Parts: sequence; structure tokens; C-alpha cells
Amino acid sequence: MAQLAAVSDSARLDAELLLAHVLGRSRSSLFAYASESLAPAPAQRFAALVQQRSAGAPVAYLTGRKEFWSMDLSVGPGVLVPRPDTEVLVEWALKCLPRDARGRVVDLGTGSGAIALALAKERPRAEVWAVERSAEALKIAKANTERLLPGRVRILQGDWWNELSGRFALAVSNPPYIAARDPHLAALKAEPYEALTDGADGLSALRAIIAGAPRYLEPGAWLLLEHGWDQAEAVRTLLSVAGFSEVGSRRDFGGHERVSGGRWLGDGGET
Ligand SMILES: C[S@@+](CC[C@H](N)C(=O)[O-])C[C@H]1O[C@@H](n2cnc3c(N)ncnc32)[C@H](O)[C@@H]1O
Repeated sequence: MAQLAAVSDSARLDAELLLAHVLGRSRSSLFAYASESLAPAPAQRFAALVQQRSAGAPVAYLTGRKEFWSMDLSVGPGVLVPRPDTEVLVEWALKCLPRDARGRVVDLGTGSGAIALALAKERPRAEVWAVERSAEALKIAKANTERLLPGRVRILQGDWWNELSGRFALAVSNPPYIAARDPHLAALKAEPYEALTDGADGLSALRAIIAGAPRYLEPGAWLLLEHGWDQAEAVRTLLSVAGFSEVGSRRDFGGHERVSGGRWLGDGGET
């Protein structure tokens, strides 16, 4: 445990998740076996995983799994590990979509497919699309869709909007937003560089998505964007300057403004 505590704020949880993975049991069931000692083979596998975790590998890469929106997603080194705070974006998106919405929805930069799958799960009649540039992430998103909600998310390889056509009732994105010079980037070395940073000031992906949006949004559609804790004001300004209305932000579980969005009322301002 001390070995894990040196690299992780959640050493106990990490150890339990790794042990449950090695034993092929749920984490909650571990307590029923607490007095049993580990057989040599699982003990060795567990020790090897603790070693990798201590070297910086995310638990989710070691177990191959991450829970998001109560779904058991497959993840691996080709994708960002979905974060609990991204559920704030999903919650806002669901408020923008009536329960029986049949409209078209798109998740730009879908990674593991986390956001798109959460929306498809909660809005069974909506037509959900997802775009991803990385071929490796695309494979994982497709595998998650096939396993969890077959046929429900249409996944395209592309650069933000460029492979899409038609208009959407809602667009969401959690794009790479860490600035290339942000010192926090170094601590995230296990995850794909292009999933975390735009390689520039941290706002270039957000700028590209906002600039492209008007051609692809129906009048009245919302565009919701996750971003860094210190980028809310900049993103709200980008949205307002691009002509979005009802621009605002939502706070994450730590109290930081981490999702901003606006409503596209159409070129003529009509809904
Ligand atoms: C921060 S990750 C978010 C992944 C996932 N949506 C989530 O919330 O867990 C950003 C994703 O955007 C993808 N991406 C980066 N640049 C892109 C581009 N120009 N077009 C499409 N996807 C892009 C990355 O490969 C990565 O999967």
C-alpha cells in the first residue's frame, strides 16, 4: 500500500480494484474473502500490477476497464481514461434533450465512446454519432458500442466536423485542452498525448469546434464543451463571439467551472 500511496491519492481503492481484477471478482465481494490468504500465482500477478501502477500506469489500463455512467467500458493505452467529472457534461446534455428526443446528437473526440454511449443509453430514440481522429481510439469506441449498445452509435474517423453532414440537435465534446506548456501534462504521461493536449495554448481544439459548429447545428441546438478549470471565461467568450446565445458554464464535483455551452439560434437568430 505504501508503494501505491507514493503515486496515488486513492491507494486503497487502486489496490482493491487490482486485486479484484486478479481474482476475477467484484470489488465489493473482496470483503467476504478478507481472511483468506492469496495463492502464490494471483499474489505474483497482483504484485506485478502494483509495480506497474507505482510506475504510473493508470489502474484502468491495468484492468482494461473503467466505469462511466454505470457502464463498464473497455479502455487501453490508446484512449483517455474517462473521468467522473465528464458526467457533468452528460448531465447537462441530457437536460437539453427530452426523454423521447429523436434528433441527431454528436460527440466530437469520442475516445472510448464514453459520452456518446451514455447519451445513447439515456435517449434511446436519439440518433447518436461519434467522431474520433485516432485509429486506435476508434477501435476501442467501436468495440465498446458493439458490446454495450450494439448499433446505437455511428462512429466515424474524422477531424472534428469534417466528415459530418447535415445538422445536429446537440453537439458535445471533451476535446484535448491542456496547454502544451502546462506542467500537469508531465504527470499524465501514460495517456495519449493527442487526447490530452492540443500541442498549443490549450484552446485551439475548442476554437476549431466552436468555429465549425454553426454549419452543423440546427436552430435551437446546444453546443456543450468540457474544458480546463481556468478556461471557462475564454470558452464563454469564444461562444459569444461566434454568435451563440444563453452562454453559460457548469461546475464539476470539485466546484470548478469545467463545462461551458451555448445555444445556436440560427444565422437569423430564430429558434
Ligand atoms: C480528452 S479526450 C476525450 C475522450 C472522451 N470523449 C472522454 O471524455 O473520455 C479527447 C479526444 O479527442 C480526440 N481528438 C483529438 N483531436 C481530434 C480531432 N482533430 N478530431 C477528432 N478527434 C480528436 C482524441 O484522440 C481523444 O480521443
